[in-house]
Amino acid sequence: MTVDQTKLPVHPIRIAPSLLASDFARLADAVSNVEAAGADWLHIDVMDGHFVPNLTIGPPVVRAIKEVATAFLDVHLMIDDPWKYADPFLDAGADMFTFHLEVVGRGDPMQLIEKVRERGAKVGMAINPDAKVRDLEPYLPSLDMVLVMSVFPGFGGQKFMAEVLENVRVLREELGFAGEIEMDGGIGPETIADCAQAGTNVFVAGTAIFGASDLSERINLLRDLAEGSYPR
Ligand code: DX5
Ligand code: ZN
Repeated sequence: MTVDQTKLPVHPIRIAPSLLASDFARLADAVSNVEAAGADWLHIDVMDGHFVPNLTIGPPVVRAIKEVATAFLDVHLMIDDPWKYADPFLDAGADMFTFHLEVVGRGDPMQLIEKVRERGAKVGMAINPDAKVRDLEPYLPSLDMVLVMSVFPGFGGQKFMAEVLENVRVLREELGFAGEIEMDGGIGPETIADCAQAGTNVFVAGTAIFGASDLSERINLLRDLAEGSYPR
């Protein structure tokens, strides 16, 4: 894949461990361990049992994480009704509020984007692997970030879908998106360089980080691979 580097905005490489892969009985330890190991953001996967067939974390747990965390809280809302739950998650301390394009028919996305901004948080929209990336176009000027899913959401530990790299290329080259691009799902030492080369700068990794024996070594490796491939 070739990318016109003159069109690419330069963002910092950010490594965002997904707490979904941590030991929920020891969340505070997971947070402090990945922060000490160099995590930039903490990725929090919120699932409602409707948008995806799994239930995970709600506002009280985000609030508990906020109390022990120093890193930026990157909250990924895999829920049908982000309008209903925006205030509770923002009150709990979400720094990035990312909701899915797939729920747009249920409410006005611009109203939600404006609300999140008014509350002082950053806002992102996520797309599933089978979404039409061009459907994001009307919202792009208002977004801090696009999250390109590289698996169908719902569970950690799935295989990376390389075909979604095209979504990153279209966002950068054809739609001229200048915000941050995050990829989520199956990111690890074998896949991160291709994601970075396409123009991704934020990397979610659950299994690849929490499954490693040395967290710091693993985060450094992921960062080095991304830095080495991100066009500058
Ligand atoms: C999937 C979640 C991901 C997941 C990533 O629905 O959005 O954040 O935790 O896990 P890995 O890195 O194991 O694919
Ligand atoms: Zn996620």
